[in-house]
Amino acid sequence: MRIFEQLESRVRGYVRSFPVIFQSAKGAIMTDTSGREYIDFFAGAGTLNYGHNNDRISQALIEYIQKDGPIHGLDMATVAKQRFLTKLNDTILLPRNLDYKVQFTGPTGTNAVETALKLARMVKGRSNVVAFTNAYHGLTMGALAITGNNFYRDEAYISRSNVSFMPYDGYFGPDFNTIDFLRKMITDNSSGLDLPAAVILETIQAEGGVNIASPQWLRDLAQLCYDFDILLIIDDIQVGNGRTGDFFSFEESGIKPDMVTLSKAIGGGLPLALLLFRQDLDQWKPGEHTGTFRGNNLAFVASYEALHYWDNMDLSNAVAYKSDVMRTEIQKIADRFPELEATVRGRGMIFGLEIPERGFCSQISERCFQNGLIIELAGADDQVLKFLPSLTMDEETLLKGISIIAQSIEELLEEKKANLTGAM
Ligand SMILES: Cc1ncc(COP(=O)(O)O)c(C=O)c1O
Repeated sequence: MRIFEQLESRVRGYVRSFPVIFQSAKGAIMTDTSGREYIDFFAGAGTLNYGHNNDRISQALIEYIQKDGPIHGLDMATVAKQRFLTKLNDTILLPRNLDYKVQFTGPTGTNAVETALKLARMVKGRSNVVAFTNAYHGLTMGALAITGNNFYRDEAYISRSNVSFMPYDGYFGPDFNTIDFLRKMITDNSSGLDLPAAVILETIQAEGGVNIASPQWLRDLAQLCYDFDILLIIDDIQVGNGRTGDFFSFEESGIKPDMVTLSKAIGGGLPLALLLFRQDLDQWKPGEHTGTFRGNNLAFVASYEALHYWDNMDLSNAVAYKSDVMRTEIQKIADRFPELEATVRGRGMIFGLEIPERGFCSQISERCFQNGLIIELAGADDQVLKFLPSLTMDEETLLKGISIIAQSIEELLEEKKANLTGAM
């Protein structure tokens, strides 16, 4: 590991949680240089929904390179892009009656978010944007300004003007209607809230701790946006791409956002980010918002193959089935260790196990890694263990992964008891 410590900036993060050198990865399993295998419950933070080195995707990439398909083309037309756009339209947009334009941005999620904010502000001629408590939208300056957690928001970085944070669904508990609160803030001329160009949110705040907005809350928010001519932007970067069982996370609620950001798994494991928006919002001048790596041709090839998972309902049905398995098994962990006072929440194949004791989730993640499982944390204080397996993970591996978590918790609690007895 010496070269990483010597040369790579202190900013490196995940390598600290998972301090081995990975050599290969296939499906749901990552293997390190000593041949040790790890079940992956992290899936590249939601990038590897179709697993590592998915056969179909890998094969298409190999063939594309062997045939000297253009790798880079700025936003020039290529066959790879043509096929991707056609597939996206035919398989995802048209069947859902979504009449969106597609804009390719720089290749990571935060680029799509920046683009959405810029376009919304330009179209509406208003600078303010509403974001929500516990939101995570990326770490470039515009996206950072609408990200809640102050770990990332050093005072020195940026003026946080033009953003108003409002309470997300459930922020004040189940009995407080945060849409009523927002409506009051918007209608009251003296609330101090400038009418926003847009409201931006995740339907499930993944990094924020697996906080789930209810379908009714989303519908009420969409109505509120409509009433006041505010654009509704859904950031589906982490929980879109099938994570909830539908391709888009908002489908269950029936809302039609004005804009949708997509990245992570849309690239089939390769860097790709895009913005979908209503046709009438397409008010850019040609070349007004550019970037060298807009639309990565290898990612188009990978994504084209990945989108075949949406030709029928098989993947959706499998996610629904595995979602039930996850809910039952994770709840069993919460029930088995009542002293943790753990709560379980989730939708589709994203789940959170919240444990109030500070630092305990990070101990679990560390122990899980020693026991052969990769799992990350979420929430303002890393108080949530975030389950994010690939959507294609088989049931046996899923169950094995969850059992490693139960075993790791048991070991930690037993050690804690032994330490306490030893100290007496
Ligand atoms: C909802 C959401 N938006 C935006 C981002 C930023 O994406 P990226 O890290 O690719 O810039 C993330 C990353 O985790 C995310 O979860």
